[in-house]
Amino acid sequence: MTQQAADPKVRAAEEKAHFEQTFEVILKDILDELPSYRLPENGREWIENMLKYTVVGGKMNRGLTVPSALRSLKGRELTADELLKAEVLGWCIELLQGFFLIADDIMDSSVTRRGQPCWYRVKEVGMIAINDSFIVESVIYRLLKKYFRAEPYYVHLIELFHETTYQTELGQLMDLITAPEDNVDLNRFSIDKHAYIVEFKTAYYSFYLPIALSMYQHGLTNEAVFQQAKNVLLPLGEYFQVQDDFLDCYGDPKVIGKIGTDIEDNKCSWLINQALAIASAEQRQVLDNHYGRRDAESVKIVKGIYTDLSIKEIYGRYEEDSYKRISALIEQIDESQLPREMFVNFMNRIYKRKL
Ligand code: IPE
Ligand code: MN
Ligand code: MN
Repeated sequence: MTQQAADPKVRAAEEKAHFEQTFEVILKDILDELPSYRLPENGREWIENMLKYTVVGGKMNRGLTVPSALRSLKGRELTADELLKAEVLGWCIELLQGFFLIADDIMDSSVTRRGQPCWYRVKEVGMIAINDSFIVESVIYRLLKKYFRAEPYYVHLIELFHETTYQTELGQLMDLITAPEDNVDLNRFSIDKHAYIVEFKTAYYSFYLPIALSMYQHGLTNEAVFQQAKNVLLPLGEYFQVQDDFLDCYGDPKVIGKIGTDIEDNKCSWLINQALAIASAEQRQVLDNHYGRRDAESVKIVKGIYTDLSIKEIYGRYEEDSYKRISALIEQIDESQLPREMFVNFMNRIYKRKL
């Protein structure tokens, strides 16, 4: 065990730096086994560049949560081996996210991600990005095999990644088929549909997965304890995706590193659902005419209606309520099994986030 900084900010920066170093380790693991696949040199270079471009450079909240949660579960500092394993699991989540985002950006016709062009928009890449996303997914299982094959919980890790992938794909499916580009019909949207989409496309992989992985690494197996964690983490994930919906419209692209496309994409976003719930017949007509259109003037008109309906203020109240509601859920956790601190830390990482 190494000496830890006392100042929480310094400590967080050190943890992040350490986690980033571990990326170099897993990158090397992946590159070093490519000769056994007789992959030519230009293939190896492609994979190296692609992994660096698509997996690194985000906030890494999901990945960093695994070592942080494991430390809470153990109630002590981690050994070097525990920390490395937790960080590898963290990178497996970041890889899963990279895999989804490469495809998501194609499907959402997005332009930038993490302050640079989306991978499919890089000149030499284009639709090769589709196969790249598959490679990124496969890397997860290479790493699980390398680091966890001998662990009693190995099969749980594999099953959890498969389950979470499927859940996310179902969420993405509903996100996409609720937003057909050539057929705007705001009657298709509802708060319930939105809740389904965000639970499946975001909450499982972003919130349940990191904590559940740390729980398996800690040796927990009791289903009921995993259910308890889920009871807090799914609402927390819903709150996070509502923030994502809000930032899509109101975030600063320079800060969030991406340009929002939800209005053009005809997405069943939290904002449009809030607007539909309170719009007058006249405002509703304007939304019908301008939502889901790929022109800047229409987007401006939709945003104008959001302003008239004080959607920003409604969101501000939602944020405050969510914090209280989720804090109450955390209170219900049985501390003999799961330290509440683990959930509080995770919530504080995202509360009132601007990126
Ligand atoms: C992405 O949802 C969810 C997954 C990648 C599984 P969004 O499409 O709403 O996310 P951003 O805004 O592009 O990051
Ligand atoms: Mn998207
Ligand atoms: Mn999307």
